[in-house]
Amino acid sequence: MIIAVDGPTASGKGTIARGLARHYGLPHLDTGLLYRAVGLHVRNLGGNPDDPLDARRATDFPDRLLTDPTLRQEAVGALASRVSVHKDVRAALLDRQRAFAAQPGGAVLDGRDIGTVVAPHADVKLFVTASVEARARRRHAEMLSRGEDVSYDAIRTDLISRDARDRNRAEAPLIEAADAILLDNSDMDAAQSLAEAIRLVDATMAQK
Ligand code: DC
Repeated sequence: MIIAVDGPTASGKGTIARGLARHYGLPHLDTGLLYRAVGLHVRNLGGNPDDPLDARRATDFPDRLLTDPTLRQEAVGALASRVSVHKDVRAALLDRQRAFAAQPGGAVLDGRDIGTVVAPHADVKLFVTASVEARARRRHAEMLSRGEDVSYDAIRTDLISRDARDRNRAEAPLIEAADAILLDNSDMDAAQSLAEAIRLVDATMAQK
């Protein structure tokens, strides 16, 4: 069984994807980490994330970057969003994601274009979303707990510009696949949101 989980920044899609992977005993890939590694590498190389050649070169990042805690920083997320608009960057990361999805027992992948580009044949596609306010509140609380000192307003503004960049880019924009199931978790906590995701996956599989 392949499960695709897409959605905007701070929608809780990562937590849901990890929870689904645990529940169904499937391997999980957070594809945002690949784009974050490219963003971090381009910065380490002194390149410009908006330059397609610099960004393309950074897709050769060393594997150890994938476990670098720096990847989780808000600033690296913004770099990831910038490098992810380039066609060559997306193409360079595609094989790795498709190979992961093609594992014999299946897999759970989360990102922006899993249901549309990486695994259009996925058995279940969830599109996880929440209001800008709910997402900004969560991201703010998460950052405070990590000791990163950022204002709620700065996070909200950054979320809106990240949403716009991810949705409006020409290559594989963030968009609900026609056959995706929408999960709006604005009024749910993490546990409720995972329980709802499991219910939706079970219901979809029962119809197959
Ligand atoms: O999910 P995240 O916040 O870690 O993703 C960071 C950025 O990477 C996101 O703003 C856009 C890009 N991304 C993408 O373009 N396609 C994906 N499948 C995953 C992430």
